[in-house]
Amino acid sequence: MTKQLIAGNWKMNGSLAANQALLQAMLAGLGSPACAVAVCVPAPYLAQAKTLLASGAISLGAQDVSQHEAGAYTGEVSAAMLKEFGVRYAIVGHSERRQYHGETDAVVAAKAQRALEAGITPIVCVGETLAERDAGQTEATVTRQLAAVIAATGPRIGDIVLAYEPVWAIGTGKTATPQQAQQVHAVLRAQLAGACEQAAGIAILYGGSMNAANAAELLAQPDIDGGLIGGASLSAPDFLKIIAAAR
Ligand code: G3P
Repeated sequence: MTKQLIAGNWKMNGSLAANQALLQAMLAGLGSPACAVAVCVPAPYLAQAKTLLASGAISLGAQDVSQHEAGAYTGEVSAAMLKEFGVRYAIVGHSERRQYHGETDAVVAAKAQRALEAGITPIVCVGETLAERDAGQTEATVTRQLAAVIAATGPRIGDIVLAYEPVWAIGTGKTATPQQAQQVHAVLRAQLAGACEQAAGIAILYGGSMNAANAAELLAQPDIDGGLIGGASLSAPDFLKIIAAAR
């Protein structure tokens, strides 16, 4: 049984004061969760979060990483830089970066590889748009996105975390049903099984309007190994309820 992971993605939210209040409330209410917990914070707050999370009860994550190792890439943050701040996870290929920054499957695959090389676990995001789902292209889309990462990482594919985030469910309150999510997770699990022997041990997270009310049913699905949480991760009570629902 893969230990589930509940990871918060704060996106472009927070402040020094708000971060301290949120993280202290999370730590105060965390107890001894059955699952692993992480928060992926905006890059300017990595130092603050590293200090506040020094106990290790909650792991530190980043929301992106450069596809390049170092050099003339203004504004980018390398995997080596993230590692210096104790970052354990890095989200790569989030749909908002694919949409707003034109990140291609090849760029996302390179980002995943840079993270792995630095000893950071990439949380690789795949997911279809509503138009792709309506056109019956869900499986074609997510397997195409994952295939690029499999090709780039080779035997290291077993060291990634995968996140299925249907674009139409992100920030909309329109959560995929447990059955819809499980169906896609099973397809991704089968694809991983064709690429490596560790497929059963690769955590496949669901993301897209997971909240305190729907988390338990989603997390009970056989191929859903956790959640990548946006809005609900900005509320300590809500995030803690999702953590409590994990196994
Ligand atoms: O990366 C997680 C995020 O895309 C999900 O956002 O607000 O629908 O939980 P939200």
